[in-house]
Amino acid sequence: MQEHRLIPRVPAEDLQQRIRELAAQIQADYEGRELILIGVLKGAFVFLADLARHLDLPLEIDFLRLASYGSRTESSGAIELTKDIEISITDRDVLVVEDIVDSGITMAWLLRYLKSRQPRSLRVCALIDKFQRRQADVRVDYAGIRIDQGFLVGYGLDYSEKYRNLETIYEVKFTAPPNQTEAPVGACDCHPPGK
Ligand code: IMP
Ligand code: MG
Repeated sequence: MQEHRLIPRVPAEDLQQRIRELAAQIQADYEGRELILIGVLKGAFVFLADLARHLDLPLEIDFLRLASYGSRTESSGAIELTKDIEISITDRDVLVVEDIVDSGITMAWLLRYLKSRQPRSLRVCALIDKFQRRQADVRVDYAGIRIDQGFLVGYGLDYSEKYRNLETIYEVKFTAPPNQTEAPVGACDCHPPGK
C-alpha cells in the first residue's frame, strides 16, 4: 500500500443527517408500496444498513457483487457479476443501493442487467455521486453527497480493503507521487489510485 494520509471529507454526523433526508424522500416516493433494496457489495453494506433502518416500508433486502477489471483508477467497462441476487425482482419495485457512482460504467452495466429481469420500476440510490467524472449516461435518482473528485474511504469504502469500518468519509492523500503503472488485470470492487 502506498504511503498516504487521510483527510476528513464528510463527518459522521453529516452523513447520518443526509441519510435521514434520503430515507424521508424514498419513503414519500414509495409510500404504500413494497420495495426491494439491492446493495452492491462490498462498498454499500454500511450505507444500506443505515438507510434501511430509516425506512418504514415493507422491505426486502438482497445483495449482489460485481468485479470490474482494468487499471486501478478507471473502470475498463469489463464487468463481471461474482454474486447474483437471490430473490425475484420481476414486477417488483427495485432500488439499487450503491456506495459511489463515478464514471457510471458499473451502474450502467448493472441497470442493463437488472432490467432484463423486468422489474416494475428500477431506481438508483448512491451515497456519493461523483457527477463530474461521468462517462456513461446514468441517472442517480437519490444522491447522498455530490463530490467532484478525490479518492474516498470510510463508511464502507476501502483502499486495498482497509478503512471500511470508519464512521467518517476521508479522502486519501498520497504522500509520495502515485505509482502510475497500470495494475495487472484483476478483480476488485473499487478503483483506488495505484498502490
Ligand atoms: P464507476 O464504474 O467508475 O462508476 O465505478 C464505481 C465503483 O468504483 C464504485 O462502486 C466503487 O466501488 C468504486 N469507487 C469509485 N470511486 C471510489 C472511491 O473514491 N473510493 C472507493 N471506491 C470507489
Ligand atoms: Mg462499488
